[in-house]
Amino acid sequence: MERTFILVKPDGVQRGLIGEVISRLERRGLRLVAARFQSVSRKMAERLYAVHQGKPFYDGLLDYITSGPVMAMVWEGPSAIAAVRQTIGATRPIEAEPGSLRHDFSLEVGRNLTHASDSVETARKEIDLWFRSEDLVDWSRDIDPWIFEQ
Ligand code: RTP
Ligand code: MG
Repeated sequence: MERTFILVKPDGVQRGLIGEVISRLERRGLRLVAARFQSVSRKMAERLYAVHQGKPFYDGLLDYITSGPVMAMVWEGPSAIAAVRQTIGATRPIEAEPGSLRHDFSLEVGRNLTHASDSVETARKEIDLWFRSEDLVDWSRDIDPWIFEQ
């Protein structure tokens, strides 16, 4: 079982797409672990996107991610990191698979609705950065054996 960190970015929140994102992740079979609606400080944004520091789009990216509230979440499931990135779609919306969130709801890389962790290591870091361990809920669903093989 893997855990991954997801944000509905400010454009997704403003456009009323929090429910759509949650609904697609639930429908996929992933299990919600934690969620918080909040604004993003410059410091949090800098930590989240530290790997992009110095890139031409970095300043615009920080302005974008701090421009309004976000919905921060942790979801879990088998191969959750890859599964969530697939449900979200490729970074550039015009390269995202039809049926993915970024394909179905966006056009531009600087307004691509969601963030999701890209590896086990970044997932661990991002979850630790946004949530305290006591905010992460360990639970099971009666339907889990029909979704999770193990
Ligand atoms: P994210 O981190 O937000 O989940 O997106 P990602 O892994 O698919 O893409 P990443 O390479 O990590 O880039 C982070 C975010 O920066 C913006 N970006 N703009 N103008 C550009 O060329 C450009 N490249 C990336 C996007 O908002 C992207 O999601
Ligand atoms: Mg990324």
